[in-house]
Amino acid sequence: MELAQLTAFARQVAAGDGSGHGFDHITRVVATARRLCDLTPGVDRAVVLAAATLHDTYDDKLVALVPAARTRTQAALAAAGADAAMQTEILTIIDHMGFKANLAHHQPLSLAGQLVQDADRLDALGAIGIARAFQYGGAHATALYDPAIPPRQTLTAATYREDTTTLNHFEEKLFHLADQMNTAAGRQLATAREQVMREFVAEFKAEWAGLR
Ligand code: ADP
Ligand code: NI
Repeated sequence: MELAQLTAFARQVAAGDGSGHGFDHITRVVATARRLCDLTPGVDRAVVLAAATLHDTYDDKLVALVPAARTRTQAALAAAGADAAMQTEILTIIDHMGFKANLAHHQPLSLAGQLVQDADRLDALGAIGIARAFQYGGAHATALYDPAIPPRQTLTAATYREDTTTLNHFEEKLFHLADQMNTAAGRQLATAREQVMREFVAEFKAEWAGLR
């Protein structure tokens, strides 16, 4: 399978995105997925890297017509030399790795899928995760913070909302990700990155309250 061909396809789909799903996100997720592969004996590296590269190519945040975009992704896989079984393996990972898909129905991911999901989630954490959260907030014109709106603490398909303040998004979603990591290596990286975010949130709230 020609990864460079898939990379060119993903770059074209991501071109012009201003909401945090740009091609730079894809590059980082693939790099993190590579690191996790190095720490995971026996995982199918080609599947991991292809799924990481393509994971946002038919996301409703990037494309208007998801089924048509999924068909284009499958065609890109075929053109890059993936046989039918490998196409299915990769598309199944992408279909089931998203946060909302996981809240709605818990379909277990393959080992390769678990690494890709961890790599994607790690990009929502740490300093880059902070930057992406505010980029998203800017793109969707949501409030930075409102101390009168408490964060929802239980995360279910029914309670999860995207139109939340950016500071509440940290507490409603991002601070739960480290616990949900599939791999030990992913969890270790996530915990360190979550710490950076917790310090940021504490400082933000102290400044907001006039304590600094
Ligand atoms: P994924 O593709 O991993 O499922 P999303 O598409 O939900 O992630 O989010 C992409 C980025 O936008 C992440 O960094 C996430 O934290 C951020 N984001 C998503 N929803 C919000 C929100 N309501 N407020 C601020 N940032 C958000
Ligand atoms: Ni992603």
